[in-house]
Amino acid sequence: MRVVSGIQPTGSLHLGNLLGAILRWVRMQDEAECLFFLADLHALTVNSDPAQLRTQVRDMAAALIASGIDPARSTLFAQSAVPAHSELAWLLQCTARMGWLSRMTQFKDKAGKNRESSSVGLFTYPVLQAADILLYRASHVPVGEDQKQHIELARDIAVKFNTDFDTDLLVPPEPFIGGGAAARVMSLRDGSAKMSKSDPSDMSRINLTDDNDLIAQKIRKARTDPEPLPENVALLEGRAEARNLVGIMAAVQGRSVEQLLAEHAGQGFGAFKPALADALVALISPIRSRLQQLRADPAALDAHLVAGAERARELSAPTLLAAQQAVGLR
Ligand code: TRP
Repeated sequence: MRVVSGIQPTGSLHLGNLLGAILRWVRMQDEAECLFFLADLHALTVNSDPAQLRTQVRDMAAALIASGIDPARSTLFAQSAVPAHSELAWLLQCTARMGWLSRMTQFKDKAGKNRESSSVGLFTYPVLQAADILLYRASHVPVGEDQKQHIELARDIAVKFNTDFDTDLLVPPEPFIGGGAAARVMSLRDGSAKMSKSDPSDMSRINLTDDNDLIAQKIRKARTDPEPLPENVALLEGRAEARNLVGIMAAVQGRSVEQLLAEHAGQGFGAFKPALADALVALISPIRSRLQQLRADPAALDAHLVAGAERARELSAPTLLAAQQAVGLR
């Protein structure tokens, strides 16, 4: 079992990334060989700031390590440091069909009405993502629900490449739902919107850099309703903000929402919120202090990324060579 996943190095990590993705990656390190990368080439498809991109790669790497990704066990690297990603992506662009990419909902969402003026990179984004995965012959790809379609596309590309060139080189990957449940964390101000780094209100999210007082304050001010917590999940229907806070608590404690409600049913938010704030402080404050240490030593951080890239180049070279041979380039 080999796990590959990537994250765009845009902005800093928040609780949504942590509970929705990163802590699953951390747990997966015990189950499989893992490769995790900062998708800096993918970041070029949105307006990335040249002056900041490299800093953001380093910052995101620090955040991942602070959260528990162990560079001694997992291969952690910047995508652009392994040219094989771009090289395989070109071969796969000749396999992927226009029609397949036209159906990608993420492209449609991001391009909106400006299809004609979107970059070609935004359109072929999922092909680069397929290369990221297929290069390492990954069996499992831990991703959120929004990326499932891209993993299915990677499967289609792998199968067509293998058929066209009469090989079994590429391994069709599975979207991976293991490593424990991932929480879908919503904004603290609006239970119908995802917690996001692009929300203009900082009160809507909890950042890994927030200090303990700020965490407590954000939870105190989080939107809720006056009702007490119910006995079961079904009764949270229509109470998006309440559902969110309960979901966050369950994820932090590694329990199910049902178990949590069994304990807290009848409690109002006046009592529940301080308990939640304490749980979040206990989760985040050690991550925050590791993050500060890591940021203070950029050379050590770079050394992790250099070593990770070297290992990734070694692991990916045979697949790229075999793909080049399969299409007749070598
Ligand atoms: N597109 C992914 C996202 O936005 C990031 C990503 C890039 C990725 N390449 C990948 C995820 C390969 C898994 C595997 O979340």
